[in-house]
Amino acid sequence: MRRVTAAAVARRKGKAPFAMMTAYDAPFAGCVEEAGIDLILVGDSVGNNVLGYDSTTPVTLSDMLHHTAAVARGTVKAHIVTDLPFGTYQASDADAIRAATRVVQEGGASSVKLEGGARARERIKAIVGAGIPVMAHIGLLPQTAGLGPGFKVRSDREALLADARAVEAAGAYAVVLEVVDHGIAAEIGKAIAIPTIGIGSGKGCDGQVLVMHDVLGLHAIAPSFVKQYANLRTEIISALEHFASDVKDRSFPAD
Ligand code: KIV
Repeated sequence: MRRVTAAAVARRKGKAPFAMMTAYDAPFAGCVEEAGIDLILVGDSVGNNVLGYDSTTPVTLSDMLHHTAAVARGTVKAHIVTDLPFGTYQASDADAIRAATRVVQEGGASSVKLEGGARARERIKAIVGAGIPVMAHIGLLPQTAGLGPGFKVRSDREALLADARAVEAAGAYAVVLEVVDHGIAAEIGKAIAIPTIGIGSGKGCDGQVLVMHDVLGLHAIAPSFVKQYANLRTEIISALEHFASDVKDRSFPAD
């Protein structure tokens, strides 16, 4: 079965709102697909959510290849977007093309995502020129937020609009708006012809993305903009306590 293409995602602009969800492994990616979500982000948030880092900055290209390949094995038709991790695309167009090519060729991704607006313009053009679709990411940029700007809501309207226009002109097929003032996010959506996908950026976006570990309540705490649809951490701990107690009192294994 052919996977949903970047062009098909781009055509969702201005239509019914659509969902994108992160996944980092085969069984969870399979659940996303079975839930009818056909746009999966193998985010570098794998660093915080799976690998035990406190940011996305340490995540490497081999981490992303490993997790992308697992997601590809666990799905058949979803469009898989993989983050290019920090340090793999900033230095040169050649680096960016090499990293994006590996993610598609070895990992099985359908497109790549990278962080940065106007400053990433040349990299986006280069990767798109190599035939690989690019999803852009503006607003709060987690790869570098901890190195300076911090994790604050972005409300610098002129800069955000310039970033959105720059990534569209460079050939991105969609753009993630992370923690952008809701009014400005809606304005960006009207100013550009590619879909905006919001995270903590309000209702005025064409699509919404959340991190699965937050949605499922796998962490003790989650960002304030998250809607938690389950509390699996509590369920998992309770199931494991039950197992341990069954072993201790010899009720498992059964006779
Ligand atoms: O890595 C990730 O999960 C992301 C989302 C926050 C959009 O980039």
